[in-house]
Amino acid sequence: MFHVVDTSVFDRPLLDDLCELTTLVRTVAKSPEGARCLQQLAPTKRAMLYFTQPSTRTFLSMNNACHVLGIRTSEIRNSSVSSEVKGETFEDSIRTFSSYVDLIVMRTPDPGYAARAAALMDSIPRPVPIINAGSGKDQHPTQALLDIYTLERSFEESGGIDGKIIGMMGDLKRGRTVRSLSRLMRHYEGVRVVFIAPDTFEMEPDIRAFMAENDIPFEETGRLHEILPELDAIYVTRIQSEHDVNDESSGVNLAPFTIGTHELGLLKKTAVIMHPLPRGPEIAVEVDQDPRAMYWRQERNGMWMRVALIAKIFDLDQEIRELASRIR
Ligand code: CP
Repeated sequence: MFHVVDTSVFDRPLLDDLCELTTLVRTVAKSPEGARCLQQLAPTKRAMLYFTQPSTRTFLSMNNACHVLGIRTSEIRNSSVSSEVKGETFEDSIRTFSSYVDLIVMRTPDPGYAARAAALMDSIPRPVPIINAGSGKDQHPTQALLDIYTLERSFEESGGIDGKIIGMMGDLKRGRTVRSLSRLMRHYEGVRVVFIAPDTFEMEPDIRAFMAENDIPFEETGRLHEILPELDAIYVTRIQSEHDVNDESSGVNLAPFTIGTHELGLLKKTAVIMHPLPRGPEIAVEVDQDPRAMYWRQERNGMWMRVALIAKIFDLDQEIRELASRIR
């Protein structure tokens, strides 16, 4: 059993394996016969989606990823409708979920809960895998997986992620997606990362220290227009105003940290624009028509990468490979 609490569970062979598996699953699912065969892979499994922080795409893609493999799902999306409201502890709630299901996927407004759930599994009679689907401002490991897949696919004609210059822009201080993606960069050769943020939302010291300790070259700037022509990818994020304590978002001038038609003219022809979504004003809707805009494809990739991850957790990858060789 493996838990996905943070990105430390992934190494390069596993990342490459998951990317390959994602492509195989997509290929198999294209035919009605393939889709039916995938649904026969885990019809006796059940999953719990425990999302006590709002989500559209992670929730829906996890839910549908389970269904692609025939896994039935239950959900709690608000702790006010669970027995937590009567004072049941987090640990007792997780233990209760594990009595009924074979996998727990969880999103929480604060960090640390997925780690607590995973630790609990060592001491209960019916442990189940835990997937962190976003933990406060800290981590979003499955988003980082789909981001890696999208980058690898985007650069499949030019050597993949290795050797690329990746810009990450926006609210880097409170953006769990860029924090998780930055950590995974240590598995790629010759990558350079550029953090582009207003002073208020610069990347936190723990990630800067991680980059330095792992020899990932990085720089920080507030000047998007100067760096944009050098980038192979620009990963844009929104301001995470839900984490404001003193209304700090409202005083920040975001105009220099947006992608619009002018910025498209500065970007390499071969570069890609990514965003974990949902977006705010940091990417103009006109950008959606540009072939370099990858964020809607990135969103679609999310479900397939999550199918691959869940298949891996339940040891179904060999069966998927056999299906792919038969059906493709
Ligand atoms: N990217 C992402 O986590 O989106 P949701 O908050 O809609 O799940």
